[in-house]
Amino acid sequence: MKVIWNNEIVERSEVKIDMEDRGYQFADGIYDVVRAYNGEFFTLNEHVDRLFSSAEKIDLVLPFTKEELKQLLTKLIEVNNIDIGNIYMQLTRGIGIPRNHSYPDPELVPSVFTATTTIVPRDQEKMDRGMSAFTVPDMRWLRCDIKSISLLGNIMAKHEAHKKGGDEAILHRDGVVTECSSSNVWMIKDNTIYTHPDGNLVLPGVTKIMLLKVAREAGLSVKEEAFTIEDLKKADEVFASSTTMEAMPITFIDGNPVGQGKRGSVVERLQQLYVDAVE
Ligand code: PDD
Repeated sequence: MKVIWNNEIVERSEVKIDMEDRGYQFADGIYDVVRAYNGEFFTLNEHVDRLFSSAEKIDLVLPFTKEELKQLLTKLIEVNNIDIGNIYMQLTRGIGIPRNHSYPDPELVPSVFTATTTIVPRDQEKMDRGMSAFTVPDMRWLRCDIKSISLLGNIMAKHEAHKKGGDEAILHRDGVVTECSSSNVWMIKDNTIYTHPDGNLVLPGVTKIMLLKVAREAGLSVKEEAFTIEDLKKADEVFASSTTMEAMPITFIDGNPVGQGKRGSVVERLQQLYVDAVE
């Protein structure tokens, strides 16, 4: 399996990451995940734009232009023969010796970029059936708009949900729902679709932005407005969105059914709009 290491495509076994890489020591880095369908990237520009924007927010410099990165990624899925799958890319601030919290000069210490591919088919059965979620306090920092590799708050929340037998954690700050541990969250009440507005408390999900657009174009009523756990528990439908989950129904929250406890008609419509956009 080939991977990208800085600006080259190499065998995975050739990659050498220094133990003093700031990504390893401080989680000083960013990442993104993009998906390929039928051997082609879906929303690649949006993911590359977000990677560059996350980098800019923490003064990280990429070792190539957006165009060069897109060409490298396209070559990678070609050589790895990825028909349907996920492409994970990450950028760290490189090797900082001696260890020091403050950033080294980017002119002296180049950032380190890696990208890997995994074949992952669509889980149609799960998208039909839906998943269960548990509400967990959002313990993360206040820059959730940056796609940081520092994910302890997210993984601890997901672990809480998993321990209770759930698939995903729905995060809230003092009862106001923000997003899930690795996806954005939405609710539908009286045929209006709600999701938290962009800002520093949620990731500007590429899937979310794309679903907002296709939903509005299809004439559905959409509001980018925050809602509470109480609202969520009275919702007709709830779902999560991400590159890897697409629009995934959440049919049980904290062990109680959402609506009828099965996928609702609005999320089913959104799933179809997503598939139409992919094709
Ligand atoms: N997660 N919110 C969080 C906290 C996320 O980690 C993600 C994505 C999203 C959805 O973003 P997008 O629609 O652009 O994938 C929202 C990725 C898939 C991951 O960490 O694997």
